[in-house]
Amino acid sequence: MAVLPDLSVDIGGLRIKNPVIAASGTFGYGDELTPFYDPSLLGAIIVKGLSLRPMPGNPPPRTAETPCGLLNAIGLANIGIEAFIEEKLPSLAKIKTPLIANIYGHTIREYAQMAKRTATVDRIAAVEINISCPNVEAGGMAFGTDPDTAAMVTDQVVKNTTKPVIVKLTPNVTDITTIAGAVESAGAQAISVTNTFLGMAVDVATRRPKLANIIGGLSGPAIKPMALYLVHKVVEAVQIPVIGLGGIMDYQDALEFLLVGARAIQVGTANLINPKTPIEIINGLTDFCVREEIGNINQIIGDLRTKGEGHEKKGNRKDT
Ligand SMILES: Cc1cc2nc3c(=O)[nH]c(=O)nc-3n(C[C@H](O)[C@H](O)[C@H](O)COP(=O)(O)O)c2cc1C
Repeated sequence: MAVLPDLSVDIGGLRIKNPVIAASGTFGYGDELTPFYDPSLLGAIIVKGLSLRPMPGNPPPRTAETPCGLLNAIGLANIGIEAFIEEKLPSLAKIKTPLIANIYGHTIREYAQMAKRTATVDRIAAVEINISCPNVEAGGMAFGTDPDTAAMVTDQVVKNTTKPVIVKLTPNVTDITTIAGAVESAGAQAISVTNTFLGMAVDVATRRPKLANIIGGLSGPAIKPMALYLVHKVVEAVQIPVIGLGGIMDYQDALEFLLVGARAIQVGTANLINPKTPIEIINGLTDFCVREEIGNINQIIGDLRTKGEGHEKKGNRKDT
């Protein structure tokens, strides 16, 4: 029998048993996919975006399908961090994999308050900051579109929590590497790339936008090449680990992100199409490593070959 490869990776101080993570907003509060498989098999789970107080989100319709993609304008509906900790977390005790809290605020102070709350909860292994949402103190401009604001949010979260901090970047910026550099300098331990791309769709029969919010975020296979490009750029720009996501549907997609240098990957929209996708990706990565006689998944990470037939030049590889 072939020896199973070591799939474990380290993301900013958080060691996970495999690089496959459930993406925020597509996996509920952590146990909604239990009827399909044991979530303990995943590398980690990132829960639905949490805010200081419960949020009702946007009016429906909140989603619209596009060719190869999904537009959503959920509006970050959630039960609030207190209800999550008190009502949801106890039932997640049986899930034996790290839970990562995805948090957002309307002001920098709210981010800091959220961070402080996560510090006291053992079950939360790390914090992922969503900076793609509007800053009410800056006319609704997203926190993640300005390097100084992105750095201030990161700084406040890092100072107020004891957990590893992952900053999730928005792709809706001119130069993502500037934002990545700013959050790295502000103390982020890892970066997730990418959140959804802004988009819209119109129903020509009614002449109305397909989303009540008019605009939404595009995810799914449609964004994969753009997400991969952004991961490539960010991996080149920073030293901290990068987690890649955007349109990952199978283990080959996952391998593309790992090869450009992502230390781990997240599965989002694919969960809504085939809930077993993350498990199929873990199995696919295992079989790939066995076939290619790769004993440790870290041998693949950043092993993009960019020069010559002999592949003598390796691309984004960094020591892992
Ligand atoms: C229905 C839906 C809800 C989402 N909610 C959140 C959220 O609460 N917080 C967050 O940071 N990202 C959220 N996202 C973004 C995803 O986590 C992910 O970054 C994005 O969809 C790209 O990955 P994918 O193409 O694999 O879905 C959401 C995406 C979808 C489709």
